[in-house]
Amino acid sequence: MSLQMVKAVLTTVLLLLTIAQGLSMALVRGWVKVKLEPADRQRWRKRHRWGGVASLVLTLALAATMLGPLYEPYSLRAWTHAVMGALATLVLLAKAIITHRFRRYLRYNTALGTAAGLLILGTFISGPLWYFVYAA
Ligand code: HEM
Repeated sequence: MSLQMVKAVLTTVLLLLTIAQGLSMALVRGWVKVKLEPADRQRWRKRHRWGGVASLVLTLALAATMLGPLYEPYSLRAWTHAVMGALATLVLLAKAIITHRFRRYLRYNTALGTAAGLLILGTFISGPLWYFVYAA
């Protein structure tokens, strides 16, 4: 399997994790009509945090493979992928820092989570999806 394919598959895993992250917080916040006990809410919140750490680690690993001579954006699509991926990494880092160090800004995690989700979706469409359809 080529490095490109490994990255495309890992980004797909990241997108699935991102969807799970959105769903877990939707459960915690009561955005979906599922009745949960407070203890269940706490459990889903914990899962969101572990999922968040996993998505951050995966994002950082993927971003690292894009640095250096391996990846030089050569088209508008590639630039879109690179910029959205970099922004997603920064947004996830900001969320982790707020969660652990600046909890008084916790209210921004909703907007940051939504932004992270959209950025990861954009990164997926402009990278792996294009790769699966046109290059693989
Ligand atoms: C609209 C959807 C989302 C909301 C409302 C939301 C909200 C939150 C909240 C409140 C926390 C702090 C949890 C705590 O203090 O126990 C958090 C943490 C976190 N979330 Fe989200 N989030 C959302 C979507 C996402 C998505 C899509 C991702 C990743 C793709 C993500 C990644 C993270 C990360 C990395 C942390 C920090 C985890 C840690 O270091 O412990 N979130 N989120």
